[in-house]
Amino acid sequence: MGPGVREPTTTVTVNGARLVANLDARVTLLDALRDRFGLTGTKKGCDQGTCGSCTVLVDGRRVLSCLTLFAQCDGRQVTTIEGLADHPLRAAFIKHDAFQCGYCTPGQIVSAAALIREGRAGRDEDIREYMSGNLCRCGAYPRILAAIREVASGAHA
Ligand code: FES
Ligand code: FES
Repeated sequence: MGPGVREPTTTVTVNGARLVANLDARVTLLDALRDRFGLTGTKKGCDQGTCGSCTVLVDGRRVLSCLTLFAQCDGRQVTTIEGLADHPLRAAFIKHDAFQCGYCTPGQIVSAAALIREGRAGRDEDIREYMSGNLCRCGAYPRILAAIREVASGAHA
């Protein structure tokens, strides 16, 4: 820690577990999740807010964890891909082969889960629009769309 940099006590509920840490006030939520708490399902892609691979939910809303300070999350509920272990999107992504390298997949699933819960996944154009912040360098977009569409329609097996 450099001179004058605080390490505030931050209490965050992550996937239902209450976690307390004193981290440098400049530490991002992404780095805290991965490096402090071992939740490496959330991926660091660009680390500058352009790829969506680091998407998590804070109080149910999608955020880019690389642009969110851990200390900002004091008292909040965070959900990561590990907290969506039973979500039907996971099976749907496998069924539709909605990934290649898989690096973007956790962010895609977290983002899609929020999108469906918000009731914004009724039309393909809405899914494309609201998922536009989640980039896939492998170009799996049609299959990602198919997986989300299936779960949103309640048709997943
Ligand atoms: S790593 Fe956060 S948006 Fe790319
Ligand atoms: S599956 Fe490789 S970046 Fe999306």
